[in-house]
Amino acid sequence: MRMKRKDSRRIKALFVSCALCVLTAAVLSMQGCTARTSRGKNMKIGVVVYNQTDTFLGELLQLFQKDVDGLRRDGEETAVLIRDAAGSQRTEDAEVQELLDNGCNVLCVNLVDRGVPSNIINMAKEADVPVIFFNREPVREDMNLWSRLYYIGADAAQSGRMQGELAAAAIRSNSRIDKNSDGKIQYVVLEGEPGHQDTIMRTDRAVATLIEKGVSLDKLSYQIANFSRAQAANKMTQLIGQFGNKIELVLANNDAMALGAIDAYNRLTITETNRPVFLGIDGTKEGLSAVIDGSLAGTVYNDKNGQAMKMAKLCDALFHGDSLDSFGLRDGKYIYLPYEKVTAENVRKYVVKQDE
Ligand code: GAL
Ligand code: CA
Repeated sequence: MRMKRKDSRRIKALFVSCALCVLTAAVLSMQGCTARTSRGKNMKIGVVVYNQTDTFLGELLQLFQKDVDGLRRDGEETAVLIRDAAGSQRTEDAEVQELLDNGCNVLCVNLVDRGVPSNIINMAKEADVPVIFFNREPVREDMNLWSRLYYIGADAAQSGRMQGELAAAAIRSNSRIDKNSDGKIQYVVLEGEPGHQDTIMRTDRAVATLIEKGVSLDKLSYQIANFSRAQAANKMTQLIGQFGNKIELVLANNDAMALGAIDAYNRLTITETNRPVFLGIDGTKEGLSAVIDGSLAGTVYNDKNGQAMKMAKLCDALFHGDSLDSFGLRDGKYIYLPYEKVTAENVRKYVVKQDE
């Protein structure tokens, strides 16, 4: 009898522990579910941007919000939460944590320091929320830390090459650019942030392309202006002070800095014949206007429309667990939108694109 009671206790204990096992398994399998079921029915996109005063990114994010809205599916709500890291990686890491705590189920990350995405990757992995990095490209090693990491941007080398081609064509078609007729082009470069893929590759490829095209160059100065119009205006004012009207060509890593350089010439009311040729990259609204009014000889279109749309579509597909086949991801992770050359001849096409 005593034995029997013991047996029945054993059976009860076995039953309870089995039930616990089943329960634990169910909870675990729920946790392993897609972001959609474990983190809400509606798509909530968390976006962090390295610096919200950046002109190009401001335009890109405006398009992105419109695109996400346009993709909204019947019966679902979408939300886009944008946070500005204002130049601090620590701030950005904290913002990502806050966005995850807030229930975001997709993250779009524009890193402050593209060399240290590991905190963000760990937090996202922990929450099983996919990350789309954009515009500031992490290195391969980091992109391989987890399977749910993606990158959307453009091929930096291509933009530099195109800027070099535009500059070479301008120099070939107008002998007055060589103001002192010494057969060489005295040039300065206004550079973006140090370490940024676009700074490194644009400067390198633009100059190399000019040389390949047979242009003799005479380097006067390279100045860092962090993609900023105001900083470029200051740097250019100093350069004018140093070199006077010797400067024949200004290669700027983006439109904002090319416009800053033009601002400096305007403030000093330097006459047209004493100005250099200016080239930018991006095709921002102001950049395109400057190509139309002729102050900027050309720019290279950084396809913000394409990048914003791809990012919205990838968010949507990741959230719904759709196949990613149609994205044609390079190495299963990367999307690069092509750059395009913009001059006075084709600039209107890009202005229209912007207003769509
Ligand atoms: C570049 C762009 C710059 C700036 C930078 C920020 O692609 O040309 O204007 O926006 O990204 O990371
Ligand atoms: Ca010259």
